[in-house]
Amino acid sequence: MCGIFGYIGEKENISKAIIEGLKSLEYRGYDSWGVAIAKKRKVFIHKQVGKIGKAKLKKIISDCGIGHTRWATHGGVHKKNAHPHKDCTGKIILVHNGIVENFETLKKELERKGHKFISETDTEVIAHLAEEIYKKTNDPKKTALQVFKKLQGLNAIIILFPEDKAFYAIKNGSPLVTAKTDKAVILASDVQALLPYSQQVYFLDDNELLEAKKGTLKLFDLNGKEKKFKFIKTNFSPSQAELGKYKHYMIKEINEQPKVVEYIANHEKENIERLAKTIKKAYGTYFIGCGTSYFAGLAATYLFSKIAKRHVNAVVASEFSYYLDFIKKESLVVALSQSGETIDIIDNVKKIKEKGAKVFALTNVLGSTLYRLSDDKMLLNAGPEKCVVATKSYIAKIAILFLTAHSLSQTFEKGKTELEKTIPQVEKLIKSKQIKKIAKRIKNKEHIFVIGRGISYPVALESALKIKEVSYIHAEGFPGGELKHGVIALIEKGTPVIVYNPRDETYEDTLSAAYEVKARGAYVIGVSDKNSPAYNEFIEIEKNGEAIIIPQVVIAQLLGYYLALERGYDPDKPRNLAKSVTVK
Ligand code: AGP
Ligand code: GLU
Repeated sequence: MCGIFGYIGEKENISKAIIEGLKSLEYRGYDSWGVAIAKKRKVFIHKQVGKIGKAKLKKIISDCGIGHTRWATHGGVHKKNAHPHKDCTGKIILVHNGIVENFETLKKELERKGHKFISETDTEVIAHLAEEIYKKTNDPKKTALQVFKKLQGLNAIIILFPEDKAFYAIKNGSPLVTAKTDKAVILASDVQALLPYSQQVYFLDDNELLEAKKGTLKLFDLNGKEKKFKFIKTNFSPSQAELGKYKHYMIKEINEQPKVVEYIANHEKENIERLAKTIKKAYGTYFIGCGTSYFAGLAATYLFSKIAKRHVNAVVASEFSYYLDFIKKESLVVALSQSGETIDIIDNVKKIKEKGAKVFALTNVLGSTLYRLSDDKMLLNAGPEKCVVATKSYIAKIAILFLTAHSLSQTFEKGKTELEKTIPQVEKLIKSKQIKKIAKRIKNKEHIFVIGRGISYPVALESALKIKEVSYIHAEGFPGGELKHGVIALIEKGTPVIVYNPRDETYEDTLSAAYEVKARGAYVIGVSDKNSPAYNEFIEIEKNGEAIIIPQVVIAQLLGYYLALERGYDPDKPRNLAKSVTVK
């Protein structure tokens, strides 16, 4: 959940390099941050609460340093809890992602040995533990290996030994990726921080120790035996990760959606047909994901039923371990994850593989943990998604799953035509001022409700998530048929209710729901191919089979974005959230 960055190599303005690295990682977690820079025999440490934003550090020319953006798990958001943390001697400094589940036991033992702790974090325990071990080994590499073996839980650490001008990194569960140029070794928790240096990267596997010294990068197994490794070319380019002419990544990535859909419609037929065949052969297919990725899986259950007459299941990844008992080796799990690092996905994929079932991953990050763990995989090819709020990665998943359903029903070309028809519809929505106007009108509301039936029901859930996570207005999506079973009690005069009301088999019943909430004073935002007196506001989406779920959700993406701006929030880094949830 945090951002980790390390640089060692030729002398350069290292404070700038580390800050830039952390800025590109800030979407992973940003309640505080800090850097440690080795300078001759001293270490410069700076820590700060809050986002890095436009922070600048004084220019420090050096050859070695580490940095961290924190997403607090143990210890409040205070300067003393920000990373880096050090041992009593100040000669061992580290940053960490994850949770040391046995930190209390370790801390008590260390306190008994006289160690003094400054912070409330689990992380600081690692530094003092390393100090104890170093006293015996007097060897940084052995110390790094031995300290990691004593940690329980899922963690990624960089340990800096300034006097040895070296840092060591090792992880299980949380991502670490490295690059080596002719000037330096760079390490980060996300490939995007490496793009300014190189597109040739190496994703560390669990329990692999990386040793970085000036000009050398080595890998070792848990027994300290050196191992070979190969760099791969990342699927992201430096320019793709830039903001360009846009004010925020969220609106940039919404604008990129037509191109993402166009690419999938015209370049992914082979991968999609392979996924379709894999589903066809499977004894049972389970789509698993978290948050937006789960809603994409839920949409798949409707798409596969309506288009391919095929039953598939969707399960929230964090719940899947309680479902696992009936998974057979003939089962197929399609794991959906933009980051490919979400811990609930990774944990479950490991358990699923233990049962011999097959895992097919749909992820956006080449080389991510999910990408490497899965038996088969397909990249979303949505380009780097830097906004914490998922938009184009969701549309990519929907486009792929939509065409997979059509491939199963031997109607791929029909699906492709319908998918391509969404492109001008999305472009028109992005250009229209209507949604911005609606945002202005409802920006001070306390609740927003979203109704959908059939294929529009998962859209209602994803729409509510978009709105709530970026504007902090409580938003609830629910199936239209559930309105009178409770939710209607919350409808008051002026309550905004978005009603996805396409003229498909759900039309009449959903229109009734629109009238029922209107009768209780709701401000009804009707989304349909036909206007109705039931709507206070009408947003038109032409009929286009099941592909209408793409423009439908874009409405909510744009509404969430404009609501965030109206309410003065940063749409790219919503409070308390992080782009990739790598801790439980
Ligand atoms: C999406 O807007 C949210 N930020 C969140 O629900 C996200 O979809 C979820 O954490 C899953 O992330 P993943 O796709 O990288 O696994
Ligand atoms: N558990 C550590 C802390 O609370 C690390 C959190 C993170 O991954 O940022 O500081």
